This record gives sequence, C-alpha cells and structure tokens, in this order.
Amino acid sequence: MNIPKPIVLIGMMGVGKTSLGHLLAQSLNLQFIDIDRDIVEKENLSIPTIFRTLGEAYFREIELQTITESLQSKACVISTGGGAVTIPKTAKLIWQQSLSIWIHSDIDILIKRIGKDSNRPLFKNGNQEEILKKLVKERVPIYKKADIHIKSGDEPLEDTLKKIIKELNAFTNSLEKD
Ligand code: S3P
Repeated sequence: MNIPKPIVLIGMMGVGKTSLGHLLAQSLNLQFIDIDRDIVEKENLSIPTIFRTLGEAYFREIELQTITESLQSKACVISTGGGAVTIPKTAKLIWQQSLSIWIHSDIDILIKRIGKDSNRPLFKNGNQEEILKKLVKERVPIYKKADIHIKSGDEPLEDTLKKIIKELNAFTNSLEKD
C-alpha cells in the first residue's frame, strides 16, 4: 500500500487509538508515535499532573507542538488524544497534513473500556456517562471531518484493524486515481 503521508488516528478516549495505532504501524511496517506518551516524556509529568498543575490550555499547546513535530515524519502512524482536534489550529494541521482516521464506538463500550482509569483528568469530577455524552456531542461534528471513519465495537482488535486496512487501501487507491 502506498501511504503518501502520516496516518493520524483521532476519536474519543477509550476507542482504542493507541492499541490500534500500534497494531496498524506494525502491520504497515511504519513508525508508531503516541502523542500522549511523547508529551509525558517531554514534560516528565503524567497527563493528570499536567492538567492539574499547568492547566488544560498548557497541555493543548504542548499537544499542538508535539503533533506538529510528529507530522514532519514522512509515513508513520500517529495516535492523538481525544481532545486534540477540538483546537482549531491542531485540527487544521491534521486535516491538511495527514490521512486522518476517526475510530468511534458506542458510549457503553467507551464506559466499559475507560472504567475507573485515573489517568484521564477530564473524568475527575462528575458522572462519567454524562461527561462522555457531552464530549461526544461536542466532538462528533469535528471527528466527522476525518478522511476515513471506522466503527469499533466489541470485536477483537485484530478485526477492527482489518477494517482499517481495508478502508485505508480503498482510500489510497482513490487518491491515486485522482
Ligand atoms: C483527552 C484525552 C486523553 C488525553 C487527555 C485529554 C481528551 O487521551 O489526551 O487526557 O480531551 O479527550 P486519550 O484519548 O488517549 O484518552
């Protein structure tokens, strides 16, 4: 498959962007970049600590910087945090410079996957289901701008991966015909 630019995975927390990104990179023989992990390494702080002590706006700045740097790589697979595309400048970069894939799941699946994960600061205060529903409502119109949309249900990750590769193939073939 001819991958002309970096592949960027977007979507809500808990859809499996990191696991799927890792598997996708492996099967395409490309470098894998996880933006949240790179931010933690850069700042030497956990994501909840960055949110708590430096604030979300600071996190979004570093996130934009890290994504900008990662997009310099020719072909690679990049997994982004769920809120990255809510920042217009970050979203614009992703739409322009990458092949974007939105992974989406039903809310009950997200809740099951996220569970009591203390590493997700946006769930710190309040009811998880309500927070998720609100974020989904705000973010879905943005996520929908991605080049490829993939629904991830309860199936094994390998099956979702197969769907991604199939859609990616069709998309890159259509680009070549243009
Ligand atoms: C966030 C999602 C997280 C992380 C941060 C903010 C969000 O990444 O970037 O906690 O705004 O949805 P994951 O989507 O990998 O959980």
